[in-house]
Amino acid sequence: MVQNYDYLKKITPESSNLIRGLQAVQGQEGYISDDSILAVAEYFNTPVVETEGVLSFYAQFKRTKPGKFQLCVCDGTACHIKGSTLILDWISTELGIADGETDKEGIFSIETVACLGCCSLAPVLSVNGKVFGNLDRKATMKILKEYKKK
Ligand code: FES
Repeated sequence: MVQNYDYLKKITPESSNLIRGLQAVQGQEGYISDDSILAVAEYFNTPVVETEGVLSFYAQFKRTKPGKFQLCVCDGTACHIKGSTLILDWISTELGIADGETDKEGIFSIETVACLGCCSLAPVLSVNGKVFGNLDRKATMKILKEYKKK
């Protein structure tokens, strides 16, 4: 299927709007594919290599298609102190994917994120925006088990 980028037409096609364009693509698609890079570069009249440079410079842009369930492991200060790296390890081991990856089936993706704003529940994990707190290994595995059933 050919991708439709009509939504970019709301943005003036100037190179100074390149980042806005990339944000629009990510908002729409959830990530920036190789095809999207070409489309954005053409629309904003910016060399592909420059567009790729902007993408790699800003951590906000994702190059991997997110899974059906996006697991965000908070690694803010409170969660880090309370073991967020362990949570990431448990999830990575269980799903066989590392931080920033999506599984082969496109079901789960994992990323570490900054403070989710509920530090009193640290350590915290969100799944498609739903927050789970006070996690230990058992609770984390239970969450994964529940989402595997969906
Ligand atoms: S540090 Fe994790 S919710 Fe604030």
